[in-house]
Amino acid sequence: MKRSFTQVLLETGNGEPTLRGTVWQMGNKRIDDEHVGLILLLEDLSQAIENHADTAALSRQLDMVVEAHREHFANEEKFLRNAGYGDLERHAQEHVRLMKVIAEAARAISGMKNRVQMIGTIHELDHALLNHMIEYDMRYKAFIQDAGICDYDVWDRTPPNQPNF
Ligand SMILES: [Fe+2]
Ligand SMILES: [Fe+2]
Repeated sequence: MKRSFTQVLLETGNGEPTLRGTVWQMGNKRIDDEHVGLILLLEDLSQAIENHADTAALSRQLDMVVEAHREHFANEEKFLRNAGYGDLERHAQEHVRLMKVIAEAARAISGMKNRVQMIGTIHELDHALLNHMIEYDMRYKAFIQDAGICDYDVWDRTPPNQPNF
């Protein structure tokens, strides 16, 4: 089975899993933990399908995936609203759109018989989630840093290499 982009991201590089590296972190511990948790849930689901999990177990896992996304989006919006983030409306609309994609994918997977097709659909969800993190979540990273409400510093402050004249 072809490895997903997420599996590559989860592999360790320099002793630290890349997905937990500062590039993917927003600086809020709860949000960062939830992001990793969502990706791991999708990975668990792929594993369960590869390991021929029964329909009841898969259905429970699919429910967990849908519920965890719903919960994360609500938590993220609450955090951003409390922080006074100006672009929340557009971000929240994107959560609504993504939630429909996730719920539809979960419904589609539960009706599939072909495991390769099921895992392909999970990889599409992985990509949709990572794209959201890049296109939307990354935009509030600078905001919460500037507002001084980060739990930790997530910027790589390594000075660029000096030009060698
Ligand atoms: Fe988001
Ligand atoms: Fe998020």
